[in-house]
Amino acid sequence: MTDSLTFAADDGHVHFRDERDGRLQLAAPATARQFSRGWVMPNLSPPVCTVEQALAYRKRILRYTGDSFEPLMLLYLTGQTSPNDIEAITRAGGRVVAVKYYPAGATTGSEFGVSNIRDSKVLEAIAAMQDHDIPLCLHGETADPAVDVFDREEEFMPDFFFLRNKFSTMRIVLEHITTEDAVKAVRLMQTRHGCMRLDTAATITPQHILINRNHMLGNGINPHDYCKPIAKREKHRVAVLGAATSGEACFFLGTDSAPHAKHTKENSCGCAGCYTGLHALELYAEAFDKAGKIDMLPDFAGKFGARFYGLNAPTKKIRLERQEWIVPAALPYAYGDAGHSIVPFYAGETLHWKMVD
Ligand code: NCD
Ligand code: ZN
Ligand code: ZN
Repeated sequence: MTDSLTFAADDGHVHFRDERDGRLQLAAPATARQFSRGWVMPNLSPPVCTVEQALAYRKRILRYTGDSFEPLMLLYLTGQTSPNDIEAITRAGGRVVAVKYYPAGATTGSEFGVSNIRDSKVLEAIAAMQDHDIPLCLHGETADPAVDVFDREEEFMPDFFFLRNKFSTMRIVLEHITTEDAVKAVRLMQTRHGCMRLDTAATITPQHILINRNHMLGNGINPHDYCKPIAKREKHRVAVLGAATSGEACFFLGTDSAPHAKHTKENSCGCAGCYTGLHALELYAEAFDKAGKIDMLPDFAGKFGARFYGLNAPTKKIRLERQEWIVPAALPYAYGDAGHSIVPFYAGETLHWKMVD
């Protein structure tokens, strides 16, 4: 039986927020403790739309992480993004690595996103990404309010296939997948031309392999389980867990750690997003170990994401040991005069793997 693991990991999808509300100071060092690099999401308000904004944000992040962590920045795709904005990425010295597509209205911070993926200006920007070999990362949900919230990822698949077919050589990541439909779609597209080139992938969060929608809604409402895409029924959790633990290089780690203040989640209209910056690797270890697949964790966490993005493997080693601990109820942080806190995902629950420093 494996009782400890030593490896280096990357977080392929993370939200840090910003200094001015105190959340960056809490979230950035927590992620840097666990991960060598983080793919930093651009859904600030206002969003990170240009290379200049991304590099300024990157500097603010580094103030709180130190140099042992590398933030890799994404730009936010809007209806105004131009081929010039995209071309500028090629001059950013590898510090900006991808562009993020948010369907307007689909999730937290998506109000500046794209309302029609078939819009000619948007397609022009995406074509420039293909020309410059810049990956496109998708929040893969339809934002149509008429579509049932549990079906929004499945209903996005036609748009995913449309993009995959129209931009046949571009690298595409379907972010934070939650359904059997998305697992199948990624597998199908990645293998469409044999195994020659890894150009289609998906990130997988800890929450979507640990819980189904019963955990969130079955015994009182747990707002700290609520994120987009929303947790689905058990057969989908099993399919996503199967993908994460399969050893297929097209499925890799992206926590989607999303810090929201406690009072904004425990609210009559609670925000979407689960905070796992504290303990993501321990959460993944819990899910992988329960599935009898703990030995598959290092490649999922440290090898496949780097390979997809054409980067060297991460180097900052961490160690996980089989050890019980209880996830804290809240993580306090400073902001203005009032005390604030963030409730981590799985607060109060016992985990069986612990990161030891
Ligand atoms: C994310 C956030 O809070 O920024 N929320 C979420 O529910 N996942 C945005 C996102 O990744 O969709
Ligand atoms: Zn998202
Ligand atoms: Zn996210």
